[in-house]
Amino acid sequence: MDLFAHSSVEQRLAELREKIAYHNHRYHTLDAPEISDAEYDALFRELEKLEAENPHLKVQESPTNKVGGTRAAAFSSKAHRAPMRSLGNAFSAEDVEDFVARIVKFLSLPKAPEFIIEPKIDGVSLSLTYENGKLIQALTRGDGEVGEDVTANVRTIRSIPQNLKGEGHPTLIEIRGEVYISEADFVQLNDQQAAQGSKVFANPRNAAAGSLRQLDSAITATRPLQFLAYSTGVCEPASALPVSESTLISALQNWGFQTPQTEGADSDKALMDIYTDWQNRRHTKVPYAIDGLVYKVNDKALQARLGELARTPRWAIAHKFPPEQATTLLQNIDIQVGRTGKLTPVAKLTPVNVGGVTVSNATLHNEDYISQRDIRIDDTVFVERAGDVIPQVVSVVEGKRPATSQPFKFPHSCPACGSQAVRAEGEADWRCVNHFNCPAQLEAQLIHFVSRGCFDIDGLGEKQVQLFIKEGLLKTPADIFLLANHADVIRTWEGFGDKSVTKLTESIEKARTTTFPRFLAALGIPNIGETTAHDLAGSFTDWLTFFSAVTADDAEAKLLSIEGIGPVIAKALIAFFATEQNVALVNALFANGVTIQAYQSRVKTQGYFTGKTVVLTGTLSQMTRDEAKARLIAQGAKVTGSVTGNTHYLIAGEAGGSKLKDAAKHSVPVLDEGVFLAHLNQN
Ligand code: IVH
Repeated sequence: MDLFAHSSVEQRLAELREKIAYHNHRYHTLDAPEISDAEYDALFRELEKLEAENPHLKVQESPTNKVGGTRAAAFSSKAHRAPMRSLGNAFSAEDVEDFVARIVKFLSLPKAPEFIIEPKIDGVSLSLTYENGKLIQALTRGDGEVGEDVTANVRTIRSIPQNLKGEGHPTLIEIRGEVYISEADFVQLNDQQAAQGSKVFANPRNAAAGSLRQLDSAITATRPLQFLAYSTGVCEPASALPVSESTLISALQNWGFQTPQTEGADSDKALMDIYTDWQNRRHTKVPYAIDGLVYKVNDKALQARLGELARTPRWAIAHKFPPEQATTLLQNIDIQVGRTGKLTPVAKLTPVNVGGVTVSNATLHNEDYISQRDIRIDDTVFVERAGDVIPQVVSVVEGKRPATSQPFKFPHSCPACGSQAVRAEGEADWRCVNHFNCPAQLEAQLIHFVSRGCFDIDGLGEKQVQLFIKEGLLKTPADIFLLANHADVIRTWEGFGDKSVTKLTESIEKARTTTFPRFLAALGIPNIGETTAHDLAGSFTDWLTFFSAVTADDAEAKLLSIEGIGPVIAKALIAFFATEQNVALVNALFANGVTIQAYQSRVKTQGYFTGKTVVLTGTLSQMTRDEAKARLIAQGAKVTGSVTGNTHYLIAGEAGGSKLKDAAKHSVPVLDEGVFLAHLNQN
């Protein structure tokens, strides 16, 4: 090794130690991390690797010898009776294989021992001391040796028993577990914080930590904190301690604690199978954020033989999931114009890997979302993906803002056509009011118009729509039905031949005769999708009856009397048909030869879902979502887009997202595909 290389290794080691100490402080003490957990793990792994390669350069004060947090000054410090250790990390199947092999070798076993698998709850660890069954103290982990006394705050958490249930408790026991906020409660808490102009949290863990560290326990009491117990510290008499992790979990339940769900495995392969299943369903198996799984040797006698390393036990490991949150630079904020003229701010990011997917755009929702979080161009931001939800910017990394930065000014004009935008009172969104004269709105509206569920026109995709707008053939959606008049010109354009033009005119011809629900859905009225269109179609025999109802003086009362139509939809319909240019579009469609078929009342078969309100999420393997929806409607179910207290079932395919959280929030039963199909085909 040459001298120069040596000094640069030393330099890097010092740099890593300093960085890790800094980020430990931000995470554990200030609850304001600047980097994602995955970025932290990468620094930590690099340090561990460099130290292992250069043992002579390892120092006693290295973060690899410590657990991490330091104590905040506001709470008094108390020593843990038994240290609160951390866990070593596994990031790959190979790491898991090594972990199991090390144990087998260490204990010289013929095969792998029995493991218990628990989710790794992404919360704040806590140690609760019970004396003769009474809660006397609650400490945070702190540096693992000494924690902060948060007893007063912890007494406000309902899932933490003040007195252990049952009889014959140990005279003294430290119960360890995790304080957390469920994903659904987190969303609600942040909305509340934003509405009050208070700090919004980057993730449920920070929200839990911040809530637990309130100086006023009355505030903690208002926060939706929960607790899951999974391990113990000191226990007197020691003989009172259960002999395995699985019996410990039962004992904790008997004492009145909630515990994480557990599974068992006895090989690295079985551990990996369980991991894959959890990774695919991490947002659906449990209602709280988890960042991996914990594998523990089940038998406490074997655990005792395995013992501990400096900061971690040999008998357990945390197998981390790939990150779903990351930090990156917000390079710019683009404003996109939707088909209803809504201006949506979109963050243009330095591409970053979030949970295995490269993200370079993320939504910023609306003006208030940006201003409540004070999100600015050139900020370093936290980006998050959850299931099938569009990635979003969740918060700003404090302390990384350039000195010159300015608050973001939301535009008051349309970036596509320059015309004035308006934000109506009580609305969150700015809208361009230039309608089809705005090229962005026209394009978005046309693409919606020709899509499945609307006019469903084959051969008229995004590219063709853009071209026809550019060439002046499409100025409103009604012009689609005049395209055949331009067939001879289109045929001469590059990319179009006789065949494709014939196909296009044929599919337009076919689409000319449509159904009431498709016609209504195609108009793109806010909040009116296919389901509502079906509800309306069931109540009006033809277009004229419908039109006179929505334009009548008592339109609102008429609409509200229809099953499935509420005030929001009624208002949207009335407003839409009160606007001259919308009526002009409808008339132009009829003038250009569109006809609506007489409505066929759907013959409903009686079935399990008859009369039920159902929501679909995720991908089904046996049928498309459209097909599932059609089959449900055929049984007389109502299929809606979001889970509310009125939903009877949520049907969840693979990779369902936020709707699962909503279902947990409203206690709506979730049916997986197998159960759904069984019920669907039950007749
Ligand atoms: S067992 C000796 N089980 O992860 C270690 N920890 O990085 C005992 N955690 O400090 C910990 N869920 O805060 C264990 N099911 C679980 C856990 C869990 C989350 C946390 C805990 C621990 C950290 C380790």
